Amino acid sequence: MKIAINEQFGDVEKIKIIETELPKLSTDEVLIKVKSAGLNPKDVLIRKGKFKLLIGRRFPQPIGFDFSGIIEDPNKSSYKKGNKVFGMINGWRGRCCAEYVNVKEGELYKMPENISFEEAAGIPLAGQTSLQAIRDIGNLSQGKKILINGASGGVGTLAIQIAKEIGGEVTTISSSKNLEFCKSLGADNTISYEEKNILELDTKFDIIYDVFGNLSFRKVVSILTSKGRYITTVPKPAIFKEQFFNLFRRRKAKMIYVKSNKKYLKWFNEKISARRIKPVIDKIFDFSEIKAAQKHIESKRAKGKVILKMNTTPNKA
Ligand SMILES: NC(=O)c1ccc[n+]([C@@H]2O[C@H](COP(=O)([O-])OP(=O)(O)OC[C@H]3O[C@@H](n4cnc5c(N)ncnc54)[C@H](OP(=O)(O)O)[C@@H]3O)[C@@H](O)[C@H]2O)c1
Repeated sequence: MKIAINEQFGDVEKIKIIETELPKLSTDEVLIKVKSAGLNPKDVLIRKGKFKLLIGRRFPQPIGFDFSGIIEDPNKSSYKKGNKVFGMINGWRGRCCAEYVNVKEGELYKMPENISFEEAAGIPLAGQTSLQAIRDIGNLSQGKKILINGASGGVGTLAIQIAKEIGGEVTTISSSKNLEFCKSLGADNTISYEEKNILELDTKFDIIYDVFGNLSFRKVVSILTSKGRYITTVPKPAIFKEQFFNLFRRRKAKMIYVKSNKKYLKWFNEKISARRIKPVIDKIFDFSEIKAAQKHIESKRAKGKVILKMNTTPNKA
């Protein structure tokens, strides 16, 4: 089968598509014929060696954490061959940008019937991140105010919809050209970082969800409510220090590290099936265009998700 790998740390030229054996299954895994793979900034950061202490220097390193596809070998699971599924692999070594992938049964769930494979592949990593950040860490509830920074990207477009679904009052931060886009996804108020300094806002927020990661707890503490939470997706050194100081204050600083679990994927299956949440795709690339797809992510201008279509084999499901 074909699989995309990084042959070294470095620029996109280090990405290669190679031939390899079909994966062998552990007892708790199923084999999936991948139809689409979702790309994420995590793939780019790994290729650049930003997480080399966690991942190690053993090459080649297979790429990709998000997938949608069909069950090829259900192994000991309750799935049947041909079932449509979507999910995300936990940990630091991805392998979903491939024709087939072995995945633990607990990291996938059946795909919503009303969306395409391309749309489904964009949900698991970005969606689970925002659901865990907003609902589980932020405790957002009806009428509470949330500010989402980086609202027009892969994680942010789902964050807006999740926060609205929970009943929050949503304010987004994006560039001026994406104000209407954020509004179309449900934002109550939209702010352009090109036009306004958020520290001059009169409003105080119960949650500040820093998806883009260029704010900090110290910077925004003045616009947090007395028990407000600052939640970031980006593991900068300051957040680890701030998490320690949480012990001594009512306002909290938190970091999300997404975990994939079928209970979260089930939540998305139900919300998407009920048309309460919709996938937002910026661009679909062919598997062979993986370098261009990763370059697009590196531009930090994606409006929603960047997807790879795995159409390299003739037998389509
Ligand atoms: N910790 C975790 O578990 C976890 C999980 C998922 C993601 N992440 C991290 O979360 C971050 C976002 O991920 P993503 O998938 O959403 O990335 P993305 O899709 O590549 O984000 C692109 C978006 O960033 C926005 N942006 C660019 N400059 C900005 C600025 N100065 N201020 C505010 N927004 C700006 C762009 O909007 P405009 O064009 O409108 O500026 C664009 O829509 C990444 O660093 C990723 O690694 C962490």
